[in-house]
Amino acid sequence: MNEDIEKCLLDKQRISAIVSTLAEKIEKDYKNKNLTVIAILNGSLIFVADLLRQINLPLQIDCWSVSSYHGTKSTGEIKFRQHELMNIDNRHVLLVDDIFDTGLTLTKIKSKIISETKAASVACCAFLRKNVKRNTDLIPEYIGIDIEDEFVVGYGLDYNEHYRNLPYIGVLKKEAIKNY
Ligand code: IMP
Ligand code: MG
Repeated sequence: MNEDIEKCLLDKQRISAIVSTLAEKIEKDYKNKNLTVIAILNGSLIFVADLLRQINLPLQIDCWSVSSYHGTKSTGEIKFRQHELMNIDNRHVLLVDDIFDTGLTLTKIKSKIISETKAASVACCAFLRKNVKRNTDLIPEYIGIDIEDEFVVGYGLDYNEHYRNLPYIGVLKKEAIKNY
């Protein structure tokens, strides 16, 4: 294990089982619907790649690059790095993110889609959900697993862009937080 990680929360096998369960549900729900999956980057990169290869449906993929975190705290504001978005009018949209924390990212993206496009529906999926109080009514339709309010990295999740490539999800050591 990486020396900056205090403990492993979800190992490869566990992650893979969670992804399979989610993929099965999504495949069932979107049968006969024209699905567009929007991956929220960079965090969902690895999760979405695993998830989509297990969904046996015709679908379109787009990637939206958004950022809200600096270090271990949400900045409370999100930035869209993209200007030209794929046409999603009349399509069933599934937003995929790595983690549902304050909920701000998915809430803002969902309302942008509802106000600026004619999408047929918009649903949300996150691999992790943190056990925290939130200021949003949004409840993601698909959640991989609920975790405690700890700062985690790996499987796409970062600390200032580090650790995304760890093949498991772990809690970062306090000492490591000042390193980057
Ligand atoms: P939200 O907008 O607060 O729900 O957070 C969304 C984004 O914050 C996620 O897509 C992550 O990029 C980032 N984030 C939230 N919690 C963590 C964490 O524990 N580790 C790494 N990134 C996190
Ligand atoms: Mg991040």
